[in-house]
Amino acid sequence: MKRRNFLKRVSLILASVAGAIGGISLIRIFSSNQVGKSSKIKIGLPSDYPLDTYTLIEDHGIFIYRDHEGLQVVSSICTHLGCTIQRTTDGFECPCHGSCFSDSGEVLSGPAPRSLSWYSIEKSPDGRVQVDLDSK
Ligand code: FES
Repeated sequence: MKRRNFLKRVSLILASVAGAIGGISLIRIFSSNQVGKSSKIKIGLPSDYPLDTYTLIEDHGIFIYRDHEGLQVVSSICTHLGCTIQRTTDGFECPCHGSCFSDSGEVLSGPAPRSLSWYSIEKSPDGRVQVDLDSK
């Protein structure tokens, strides 16, 4: 009888722990997917960025390039395994496995399988530039 009670308690404790872990996992999944949130981020005014320069915004995984025509936004995430790429004099390079990308983001040498993504941008009502990270 004692052994049976012990096994019941252990089962109950294990079931409670599994339930708690499952509940926490669900909360994390729903909060990380930003249910109902926009994929658009505001990056400020064009004048916030120096001319003819790529500015890395690592938190969002993008480079912002400004020239006389305006802003352009390209991904700073390598298409091989997701490392943050670096700007070179004539393109981009991944420090992890050496992939090289042209100025336009095309793969010059692998192992990266795809070109870098460019994102759509638009002006928000307050005049700031918005990047749509879902629109490549
Ligand atoms: Fe960039 Fe592997 S992660 S080359």
